[in-house]
Amino acid sequence: MITLKSKREIELMHTAGNIVYKTHQYLKPYLKEGITTQEIDDLADKYIRSLDATPSCKNYEGFPAAICISVNDEVVHGIAGKRKLKNGDIVTLDICACYKGYHGDSAWSYQIGEIDEEKKHLMKYTEEALFVGLKQVRPGGRIGDIGHAIQTFAEAHGLGVVKELCGHGIGTNLHEDPDVPNYGIPNTGVKLREGMVIAVEPMLTAKSPRVEILDDDWTVVTVDGHPAAHFEHTVVVTADGYEILTGEWKDG
Ligand code: MF3
Ligand code: CO
Repeated sequence: MITLKSKREIELMHTAGNIVYKTHQYLKPYLKEGITTQEIDDLADKYIRSLDATPSCKNYEGFPAAICISVNDEVVHGIAGKRKLKNGDIVTLDICACYKGYHGDSAWSYQIGEIDEEKKHLMKYTEEALFVGLKQVRPGGRIGDIGHAIQTFAEAHGLGVVKELCGHGIGTNLHEDPDVPNYGIPNTGVKLREGMVIAVEPMLTAKSPRVEILDDDWTVVTVDGHPAAHFEHTVVVTADGYEILTGEWKDG
C-alpha cells in the first residue's frame, strides 16, 4: 500500500531526515585511516540518540548495528566490527533514523585518503546517478522513469547496476511501497503523486553488477571483488518536483 503523507507527517519526516543529514556531517571528520567501523557505529548510535531519535537499522529484522557501514567491495548492509579503515578505501555509511515514529534514510560513500582511478570514477558517477534519478521525480512521473534514467546513465559510464536491491517508499516504516529499482522502462510502473515519500538509492559497481551475501547473512558484496558505491536521499514529491528531506535544512 502506498501512503500519501500529510503536511504534518512531512514536517516530522523533514526532522527525521535532517537528523540523518546531521549524523553524516558529524561522522565525516572521523572517517580517517585507523578508525574501526565499530568506533564509527558507536559514534553514530550516540549522536542519533542525542537528537531524540533512534537508529532505525538497530534490530531491524535482527540487524545488529546502528548504521550500515560497507567498505570497498561491500555494497550494502555491512556490519561494524574490528576492521580499521585504511588509505585508499571507500566506505559507505547508510544511516537511518526514526523521529516520533517517522524514518529518514540516506547513504553516502566517502573516500579515505587517496583512492585509485577506478574508485574515483565509481564515486563521481554514482553520486551523479542519484541526482539523474531524482530529476525524474515529479507528480505524474513514474517509477520506471527513475530507474531508466539511473540505469542509462550508469551503464553509459561503464558502471554496473545492482538489480537485487532497490530504493523504496518510506514513512512510519523504513521500507514501504513502492519499490524504486535502479533500472526500468520509461512510462511504466507506479505513478508518483504529491505527498509520496521515497528513498532513491543507486547502488552501482565498478565492474560486474553480480552480488552475493556473506556468511553473516547481511553483508552484500560484489562477486568479482571490485568496489561498489551507494548514494541515497529521502525525498518528498512536491507540486512541481521533489524536495530532499535528508539534505541541508534551514533550521538544522
Ligand atoms: N538503507 C537501508 C536499506 O534501505 C537500511 C537497511 S537497515 C538494515 O536497505 F537493518 F536492514 F540494515
Ligand atoms: Co534505503
